[in-house]
Amino acid sequence: MKRSWSIPIVVALWLIAEGVALTQARVTKNPLESDKEAIRDGGAMFRQRCAGCHGPDARGDRGPDLTGLWASGASDDRIFQSVRQGVPGTEMPAADPSRVPDRDIWQVLAYVHTLAGSDPPQAVAGTAENGERIFQKTCRTCHMVNGGGGELGPDLSRIGSGRPRAALTKKIRTPSTNIRPGYEPVTLVLRDGQRIRGVKKNEDEFSIQLMDLRQRIQGYVKANLAEVVAEKQSVMPAYAPDQLNFGDLDDLLSYLSTLRR
Ligand code: HEC
Ligand code: HEC
Repeated sequence: MKRSWSIPIVVALWLIAEGVALTQARVTKNPLESDKEAIRDGGAMFRQRCAGCHGPDARGDRGPDLTGLWASGASDDRIFQSVRQGVPGTEMPAADPSRVPDRDIWQVLAYVHTLAGSDPPQAVAGTAENGERIFQKTCRTCHMVNGGGGELGPDLSRIGSGRPRAALTKKIRTPSTNIRPGYEPVTLVLRDGQRIRGVKKNEDEFSIQLMDLRQRIQGYVKANLAEVVAEKQSVMPAYAPDQLNFGDLDDLLSYLSTLRR
């Protein structure tokens, strides 16, 4: 049989050319930006997969306000990558390429773009310096910022990355209305009646681990416990206006908004 190498070579060259074309064709601008159908589907997807964290109108809740991203200079490409890769070390999940095609992401972003304002996010009132003093005095025992502080609550070094003031205010005034996953409050009742309160770190069928209020990790075998009580009250204290007045709250929020990536 006579073999010709020309076909495989042509195919190989074609594949290389195609590969180059694909690399060059890396999308930097949202191809679905003015596609009405995509925007509608993107809206449905947003409500299902994103609104729980970014709020029903993308103005932010547990996750940041997304409507000011474009006005503050972010490119379609960079925003796409945040959704594809997630933000490691935060609640922002990655989108698995085998389950979420690029088109889905562009669709959601086309929708969010329709909500976007043209003004960059507003500068906030309040004095960050006083806010930092309040933070050091009141919050640092439980929260780390830039490598220093307590560990009972989450690291707040990035909390300023667009989380709206309303959501932060709600967290500070009434922390138990929205307890961050991974920091569930729990009370263990020992057989002798002693109660240990803290934040649950780990639990399986036979054992449970928590960080107690003195920030020590403690592990218990469940068989040795009288009871494990899942609490509804966050271990974070509620700061009512008589403990933290409105001026000080403003300053604290200004300080938190300076903490970013
Ligand atoms: C479980 C909560 C959660 C879900 C679900 C979620 N996000 Fe996020 N997202 C976050 C948090 C928290 C951040 C901030 C991360 C940080 O600290 O930078 C974030 C950040 C982002 C950013 C980056 C913002 C910036 O400043 O660069 C984009 C874009 C984004 N999310 C879009 C989406 C979209 C679109 C969806 C739905 C497909 C989604 N998110 C689902 C919590 C979530
Ligand atoms: C006694 C410890 C403690 C103190 C003091 C404390 N917190 Fe917290 N905080 C926590 C814990 C634990 C969590 C996580 C559980 C939850 O969401 O309630 C948390 C959660 C938070 C969150 C949500 C973080 C996220 O990623 O969702 C913010 C914001 C916050 N705290 C701000 C503050 C501020 C501001 C102060 C000071 C005014 C403060 N905390 C004082 C323990 C504390």
